[in-house]
Amino acid sequence: MNPIARGWILYKPDPGLVKQETYEIDRIVAAAPENAYEVEIVSPDEIGLLVSSSQGHSVFLRGNEADLPDFVIPRMGSTTTYFAMAILRQLERLGVYCLNGSQAVELAQDKLFHLQVLAAAGLPVPMTILVQFPVAPDIVERELGFPVVVKTLVGTQGSGVYLAEDREKLMDLLQFVEANNPAAQLVLQKYMSESRGRDVRVLSIGGHIVGAMERIAKTGFKSNYSQGGTVKPFAYGPRNEMSVAETMRVLDMDMAGLDFLYDEEVGFRICEVNSSPGFEGLEQACDVDVAAALFQYLDVKFRISAKARARILEQSKKDGPAD
Ligand SMILES: Nc1ncnc2c1ncn2[C@@H]1O[C@H](COP(=O)(O)OP(=O)(O)O)[C@@H](O)[C@H]1O
Ligand SMILES: [Mg+2]
Repeated sequence: MNPIARGWILYKPDPGLVKQETYEIDRIVAAAPENAYEVEIVSPDEIGLLVSSSQGHSVFLRGNEADLPDFVIPRMGSTTTYFAMAILRQLERLGVYCLNGSQAVELAQDKLFHLQVLAAAGLPVPMTILVQFPVAPDIVERELGFPVVVKTLVGTQGSGVYLAEDREKLMDLLQFVEANNPAAQLVLQKYMSESRGRDVRVLSIGGHIVGAMERIAKTGFKSNYSQGGTVKPFAYGPRNEMSVAETMRVLDMDMAGLDFLYDEEVGFRICEVNSSPGFEGLEQACDVDVAAALFQYLDVKFRISAKARARILEQSKKDGPAD
């Protein structure tokens, strides 16, 4: 097959994750030929970078100068290392289309940074304070109240999120953290009590909602699917659609998983944005094909009409499987 475009999935398993995201990678790899695309999984460890003003930048793959792909899908989200980010930036400079781009991945990786950007754009976010040791409990009590949510700046799958029930528990936790790592980066966030044990996860590609589901925690207050939460489709209206499109536009994201918390005053507040969202639960709950939607979006980016894609697929059937 002469594919529409060739791409890399930039991915390396992270042993720290509660659940490895192999489902998503397998789905994208399997859907690629069905959609007339070609993808290859590439680990950042297999790539070398050369930055030079005279010879131009170049990228090495497994020791040889790489035949550059047409697009890259980074799939490391909040576990993206500095090295992987540098690869993404270099590929972008070389004209490779990155879905998402390095700036969007960087923004999504830092929970305070993207909330700052969203709040500045007038989008509702939960009130959040960046922790500076020593923490003054009076200010926390006055601004956020108790219980209060404590989060690591970088984290995923619910592992860096803790609910401090009262002042004493919060101070105990913060003292413990400070004693172990005085440079620890944490935020304190207003506990959205209406959202206790449930939230809404929206998967958006290009500002369009591919699927939306309500996640309900098995126990406790964290409703992440990877923490064993159950899921059911969420019926969204035009207002939700518009706020999702606006969030995607403000953060310049092509693909994202957006977590919304229920709030009685404004309806929803954006809890966080993931640049490399898992979609196993969403595909099951909403009966949608996220991988196919991803390739449809690439069709738009590569200016391929539905007819042209159908012709390519027809031709590849005639040619038979590639060697
Ligand atoms: N401010 C909050 N109020 C109520 N529940 C929250 C709040 N922040 C997070 N949660 C719950 O904890 C879960 C994990 O938090 P989140 O910030 O999305 O971290 P992660 O990146 O680990 O998914 C959310 O899906 C939600 O159920
Ligand atoms: Mg989350």
